[in-house]
Amino acid sequence: MNYVGEIVGVGSFIPPKAVTNFDLEKLLNTSDEWIQQRTGIVKRHWVEKNVSTSDLAYEASLEAIKNAGIDKSEIDMIIFATLSPDHDFPGTGCFLQDKLEIPGITVLDIRQQCSGFIYGLSIADKFIRTGDHKNILLVGAEIHSKGLDKTPEGRDVSVLFGDGAGAVVISRREKTSDDQSQIISTALHADGSYAKELWLPGPGNAFEDDRCTLAMIEEGLHYPKMNGRNVFIHAVKRMAETLTTTLKKNNVTIDDVDLFLFHQANIRINEKVAEVMGIPAEKIFNTIHDYGNTTAATIPIGMSDALKAGKLKKGMTVGMAAFGSGFTWASGLLKY
Ligand code: ACO
Repeated sequence: MNYVGEIVGVGSFIPPKAVTNFDLEKLLNTSDEWIQQRTGIVKRHWVEKNVSTSDLAYEASLEAIKNAGIDKSEIDMIIFATLSPDHDFPGTGCFLQDKLEIPGITVLDIRQQCSGFIYGLSIADKFIRTGDHKNILLVGAEIHSKGLDKTPEGRDVSVLFGDGAGAVVISRREKTSDDQSQIISTALHADGSYAKELWLPGPGNAFEDDRCTLAMIEEGLHYPKMNGRNVFIHAVKRMAETLTTTLKKNNVTIDDVDLFLFHQANIRINEKVAEVMGIPAEKIFNTIHDYGNTTAATIPIGMSDALKAGKLKKGMTVGMAAFGSGFTWASGLLKY
């Protein structure tokens, strides 16, 4: 039997508290003008104190499962993508599984940062195609706000990131035609020689002594560090490169694609990718102005918002591309 994976349910959850650029002006020696001009971000959402990453994921998952029209007991695998887990271990997928009360099924946490959702989609597709699994819940969720340096020293990174979660249910279908709704193709890449261009140094076992020390915290090693310009240059190059290859491999032209869902790190990255590839602006669905960079949650949140806005409809061909820390990058093509 030939199987394909179809996205049958999409959900998202954005924490209610909006943090505008003007709010950040009070903390970070920044300005609304700088942030909007350099990134396109107008606001992002940050959680209240008592909320965890798995809480956001739970809400998004419930919506995705409801929209899939299945019972949560029919989910047989969770794939969880995040760089901001509830705890170092176990993976946040286990905490989500417990909240969903679906014990015993396969749970897999993956760590590919902004490319996490497309990596997860690819893994889900493979598990479905083997016939092993039937209904996979793929979640991307992040709480960045609890890990950012909210002093002027952290302004280059801290203005960029927001909290949120997105989820999809991918169901196994018998393959009947190339035109049916399905994940068509994915491509996954990484280059670890750039790992320290965007990373969170501590805590960790690469340190000589204890993995977590007071000195480490005093040095601010528990805050993300980024070489923004280098990330920017590589993001444009790699997103355009992998998406072009995926389209070619599947004999699909830009005209054939109805909607592009790109990772949202900086509006100027997406504009450059569009320029390089000749993609009309109206085919790209951007959310960065409202949410900032929500890393692994970005593409499923975009999918959810595009559906709610009527921009994504059944039968559409969708192209995806993402780039993030690692460096990792990925692209995907699906028939929604
Ligand atoms: N507010 C005001 N000024 C700032 C801020 C801020 N928040 N941040 C930096 N500046 C200043 C800098 O200090 C610098 O000042 P100087 O000229 O006096 O030295 C000036 O603004 C310009 O800084 P640049 O770094 O050159 O600004 P640039 O135009 O490159 O934009 C940015 C910076 C937005 C970070 C950009 O480089 C970028 O978006 N890079 C990619 C980020 C990205 O894709 N991250 C992926 C994360 S995904 C993941 O996997 C986690």
